[in-house]
Amino acid sequence: MDKSYKNVYITTPIYYVNDVAHIGHAYTTIIADMLARYSRLTGLDTYFLTGTDEHGQKIEQSAKQRGRTPQEYADEISGKFRTLWDDFDISYDKFIRTTDEEHKIGVQKAFETMYNKGDIYKGDYEGFYCVSCETFFTEKQLVDEQFCPDCGKPTNIVKEESFFFKLSKYEDKLIKWYEENEDCILPRSKKNEIVNFVKGGLKDLSISRTSFDWGVKLPESINEPKHVMYVWLDALLNYITALGYGNKEENMNYWPAKVQLVGKDILRFHAIYWPAFLMSLDLPLPTHIAAHGWWTRDGEKMSKSKGNVVNPKEVADAYGLDAFRYFMLREVPFGQDGDFSQKALMDRINSDLGNDLGNLLNRISGMSGKYFDFKVNSVDVEKFHKKELDEVNEILENVESYIFNMQLNRYLEDIWKVLTIANKAIGDYEPWAKMKEGKTEEAMALVALITNIMAKVALLLDSVMPEKISKIADSLGIEINTDTYNKLIVNKELLDETTITKVEQLFPRIEEVLLEQASTADVSKAEPEEKAKAKIDQKKENDEESDNLITIDQFFETTLKVGTIIEAEEVPKSKKLLKLQVDLGEGKNRQILAGIKEFYDAKDLVGTQACVVANLKPAKLMGMLSEGMLMAARDENGLSLIRPETPKKSGTKIS
Ligand code: ME8
Ligand code: MG
Repeated sequence: MDKSYKNVYITTPIYYVNDVAHIGHAYTTIIADMLARYSRLTGLDTYFLTGTDEHGQKIEQSAKQRGRTPQEYADEISGKFRTLWDDFDISYDKFIRTTDEEHKIGVQKAFETMYNKGDIYKGDYEGFYCVSCETFFTEKQLVDEQFCPDCGKPTNIVKEESFFFKLSKYEDKLIKWYEENEDCILPRSKKNEIVNFVKGGLKDLSISRTSFDWGVKLPESINEPKHVMYVWLDALLNYITALGYGNKEENMNYWPAKVQLVGKDILRFHAIYWPAFLMSLDLPLPTHIAAHGWWTRDGEKMSKSKGNVVNPKEVADAYGLDAFRYFMLREVPFGQDGDFSQKALMDRINSDLGNDLGNLLNRISGMSGKYFDFKVNSVDVEKFHKKELDEVNEILENVESYIFNMQLNRYLEDIWKVLTIANKAIGDYEPWAKMKEGKTEEAMALVALITNIMAKVALLLDSVMPEKISKIADSLGIEINTDTYNKLIVNKELLDETTITKVEQLFPRIEEVLLEQASTADVSKAEPEEKAKAKIDQKKENDEESDNLITIDQFFETTLKVGTIIEAEEVPKSKKLLKLQVDLGEGKNRQILAGIKEFYDAKDLVGTQACVVANLKPAKLMGMLSEGMLMAARDENGLSLIRPETPKKSGTKIS
């Protein structure tokens, strides 16, 4: 990584408190969190800012509609954002609120500085205003003479005394900045839009309002008590007031920001107004302003009125926070729009996380345990696996460059290439065969190669999935810190001897969508072939040995019992599931969800028996608990349950 800078400052937009957080807010914040964690791990001094945007007409109106004061209302919603980020373990260093006293002082100080420089003058504003976007428009810009070109809502006519910022004065300077700094706005396609917009000519910007109160007052020295600041001036300045600008300046050493993340909806404010304000304040400009795309839900724009807003907390609770983080970062190339569906999330979990990553860890613990009493050393890795090591190092050398160019999906794709090398090496070198042939050193070299690859991958994925990676690190006997990072990634060294510990399955397979609220279009209906293929893959995974015979002890790890179906009902909205209450002679019935609705009527099942896998870990299907599995056989003519030939007592063991 380019170490020419020492400090890394990363920001998210500050979110409006007129609404609770949804998946789009979570997306921005998770990207920023990943960058911050990554940067800290590499040893850089990092500061990560997020917060809430609490002033302006929109918030004032929302509060009024609810019969609250703006401050009370802002306190509540800001608190909800903060709690969500805390639940998500977002590693922010500061959570700023624009109602913070220090912020207000800093904003006034900035206004005064710009005013004294001659960049602010008083005039009259006449035009249109969209409260929802907090944006001024000219008549020409409106859609059908009335509607906001950004959000489509009706605009208001505004005619009032206002202070203006001389934005036009900065037109050439902005263009120069864009030209001299190729990556100042990412991605490039978005940058071109901005450059064209600025080349089209900039008008001075109205930066104060007199028709409402809920905002930062102008500095006393200007003596204009009727005016409050335009909310976007107030809001953008948060990025420096958070560092102490205009107050103690205690953290201004982090300025300029390395990356300022925004959604594409607010890029214009960040790529035009913000740098112009900074130039006026004689402050350096950020290295990257990075605009990501828009999330839709099952192909549709999310909105409260449609009731299709994805609640990030619900998704993370159902599927796991780390899986959700991985999905968001991996699923769409930065800058492009993405579509959220539970099916897509499930696919990522089952294939990338379960098969490629989680299963590799199980293989490491399985092989190291079976052959080497869990002790792995790397002494012979270079000797037997130079080729694989070189391949891995070559890929990993380049992945860092993706990070601050915001090519996060490519970063992850390349890490997955490394996992593929590891998974493939096991098949190619067959350590079980080596053991049979007495080539213990070679088998050890292979296991150690895989362990080292996993350790390197763990370091690089820590920022993406901190919780799961800490489990992987524990299992490999390594610590995720800057020293390990330098050793294994920067210096490309190998692990010293390490002891592996077994861990639980990190990403259990998910067979059905977990959230009820899924619209019907979203309910996963994998094709039978697809399902079959997945099962075959899974079986391959499990057959780590070339021969897949099991011992009688292994067979007895499965507890099979005769169960009597006491109740049966259909699961609404599910094509496949029946919900059964099954007596296994335990004194209390078990609830079992069985994918047999297409083959059996619920009422015909009551009173019949079936063979049940009784020691299966409980799982949730469509939000309901399932505590076991019915055994069945299926061919092209349909499915039949496996039952005792003649009735047996409920709970009778099958062996
Ligand atoms: O604009 N997909 O706040 P805001 C992706 N307060 N990202 C989305 C999204 C979606 N569907 N919806 C929202 C504001 N976002 C101002 C910012 S900064 C000085 C002031 C994300 O609450 C995305 O990051 O409307 C977008 O830029 C931000 O939320 C807007 O949040
Ligand atoms: Mg918005």
